[in-house]
Amino acid sequence: MTFTSANGVSIPALGFGTFRVPGPDAERMVSHVLASGYRHIDTAQIYGNEADVGEGIRRSGVARSDIFLTTKVWVENYRHDAFLASVDESLGKLKTDYVDLLLLHWPNEAVPLAEQIGALNEVAKAGKVRHIGVSNFNTDLMRQAVALSSQPIVTNQVEYHPYIDQTPVLRAAKQLDMSVTAYYAMADGKVFDDAVLTAIAARHGKSVAQVVLRWIVQQGVIALSKTVSENRAKENAAVFDFELSPEEMAAIHALARPDGRIVSPEGLAPVWDRVA
Ligand SMILES: NC(=O)c1ccc[n+]([C@@H]2O[C@H](COP(=O)([O-])OP(=O)(O)OC[C@H]3O[C@@H](n4cnc5c(N)ncnc54)[C@H](OP(=O)(O)O)[C@@H]3O)[C@@H](O)[C@H]2O)c1
Repeated sequence: MTFTSANGVSIPALGFGTFRVPGPDAERMVSHVLASGYRHIDTAQIYGNEADVGEGIRRSGVARSDIFLTTKVWVENYRHDAFLASVDESLGKLKTDYVDLLLLHWPNEAVPLAEQIGALNEVAKAGKVRHIGVSNFNTDLMRQAVALSSQPIVTNQVEYHPYIDQTPVLRAAKQLDMSVTAYYAMADGKVFDDAVLTAIAARHGKSVAQVVLRWIVQQGVIALSKTVSENRAKENAAVFDFELSPEEMAAIHALARPDGRIVSPEGLAPVWDRVA
């Protein structure tokens, strides 16, 4: 497994995502992917499958200490006491004493950011969480989070695929010594019809999914990938045995377009950074 480092923390560069993976599939796939070599699992309170993910981890037989496990606190649990209670509930469902990474799932202005970051730090100090981070933060919120936190904010998990230009977030992360974690790599299936990606994939004897995941990890960004298929999980893990040329990387970056963002839920999404 290849790792990405940020702030002295090593995170497996490819993670298995469980959004929209119903309970029985989550248990089956988490158990399977861990047994077949994945070491990074991503879930969230709002996915409703933490208990199944926990059961999948248990069933896999892989030592807990060999797994990098992330969950995310849902925005309705950001008040201090609710936050702490929700983390205990997550740990109970996941059948573990700690998670490797705990994220704020989306910004929520209804609760001061200082209170949210304070709670993240508190559960980390209590040993319930190894590392802390954020998700769907713009660069202004990233800077505020780092300034408010006594512990490193190790990642910002954001939508990232060939159709969205995340340069501002990537630059800010570098300045702040944070990693970036990419979700929605397949752009809701749009990548599979893309002529540029199909041509690059054919040149390497790889699939479009592998090219997209490779493009992400080759930038030093952590890629999350979700599937309910064992074969696709195996395919998606085989991205560390080939390299895209600088021209191919640039050709994929050039697919970005101003309306490329897919995930921007009203009431949750911050004002996104504009690309200069
Ligand atoms: N922080 C956030 O707000 C946030 C938001 C969204 C997602 N995430 C995280 O990021 C993870 C990844 O994002 P995502 O779930 O949208 O999935 P994704 O990895 O972009 O995949 C999207 C779809 O592509 C299909 N697929 C995967 N591999 C394939 C392959 N090799 N060939 C053909 N099709 C393939 C899958 O369908 P099949 O299952 O049918 O194979 C899946 O439904 C999530 O599971 C979650 O953990 C976080």
